[in-house]
Amino acid sequence: ASYDAGEHDSFMHKEILEQPARAEAVLRGRLDERFGTGHLGGLNLDARELRAIRRVKILGCGSAYYVGQMGASLLEELARIPADAEAASEFRYRNPIVEPDTLYVAVSQSGETIDTLLAVQEIQRKGGRVIGLVNVVGSAIARQVDGGIYLHAGPEVAVASTKALTNMYLAFAMLAVQLGRVRDLSIADGKRLIAGLTRIPEQIEQVLATEAELAVVAKRLAEAESLFFIGRVRGFPVAREGAQKFKEVSYRHAEAYQTSELKHGPLALISPDVPTVAIVPDDELVERNVAALHEIAARGGPLVVVTHEGVALGDLDGTLAGRIDVPRNERELDPILMTVPLQVLAYHAAQELGHDIDKPRNLAKSVTVE
Ligand code: AGP
Repeated sequence: ASYDAGEHDSFMHKEILEQPARAEAVLRGRLDERFGTGHLGGLNLDARELRAIRRVKILGCGSAYYVGQMGASLLEELARIPADAEAASEFRYRNPIVEPDTLYVAVSQSGETIDTLLAVQEIQRKGGRVIGLVNVVGSAIARQVDGGIYLHAGPEVAVASTKALTNMYLAFAMLAVQLGRVRDLSIADGKRLIAGLTRIPEQIEQVLATEAELAVVAKRLAEAESLFFIGRVRGFPVAREGAQKFKEVSYRHAEAYQTSELKHGPLALISPDVPTVAIVPDDELVERNVAALHEIAARGGPLVVVTHEGVALGDLDGTLAGRIDVPRNERELDPILMTVPLQVLAYHAAQELGHDIDKPRNLAKSVTVE
């Protein structure tokens, strides 16, 4: 069957709304509820090989790189394996050290991004083992890697990636649980996370049900020439992805920053003309995050807060340009539910500004030349 936008004004809108069903597709058959672990058949690594991994290095470009950062957090938290993400476009230019007990993970929707493909080849040339988190079956990266996880997001047409990123995140979560469970993640924690993952599709649906309210917030944000997206630790890659999506389709200057670093410089830019979208999950950092919001409000900076129901913002609550409460899940899984409303904000801002949502100026769906 051909894939078209149907009743939607754009593929981006269609693809955002497809996420609950596509999220179910990536999880299907891969969650082991009895042992509280992931069941990823395509890794081509047995339990002994999984246990021998000492480090994980994730490579991707653009949004795939930002989801890679989310994945690195999941791996460190759940599997307690040192993990980090790097822009695949930079990797091979610095004569990278490739180690045999590092697991390399290449992340790509298209599977055709040249910088990611060349990073994979550079690693393999030095004897490293690479798995892929790829959406397009049979793509160049899918064929090149030594194993991997297909994302089952279905075809993605909009240049601004949405559903593929969500499924990358879910694939990382399953990988982190599976790696954790051959190490020190308890069966109870494994089951807690597997149960959390099964709730995600329905909770994404709940976020999407608030689209009308998000559209109102997006209209306000679209008026600004320049804005900040802030978050810390788990929330920082969410902010990076939120800013990326916003700038791709709205052409506004959107800068992601670590909330904790604001006072070390960019606070100088905060003014009534520069709104901030803040990622404030109800986690161990909530009080510090709320304190930072007060710093912004004191300088007249308009605030949109992505948070959880019940998080007390004190006297800020009446002054916000928007408050977006996402459903609660396990803390480790907060990033994905906080990313989805940011996609919707970007989409509605672009629509408000009358841009070509699916084909933003200067961008290609996949960057296949160096
Ligand atoms: C996402 O919205 C962007 N268009 C872009 O950053 C993209 O994620 C990047 O180019 C990587 O593409 P890939 O996943 O197909 O490798």
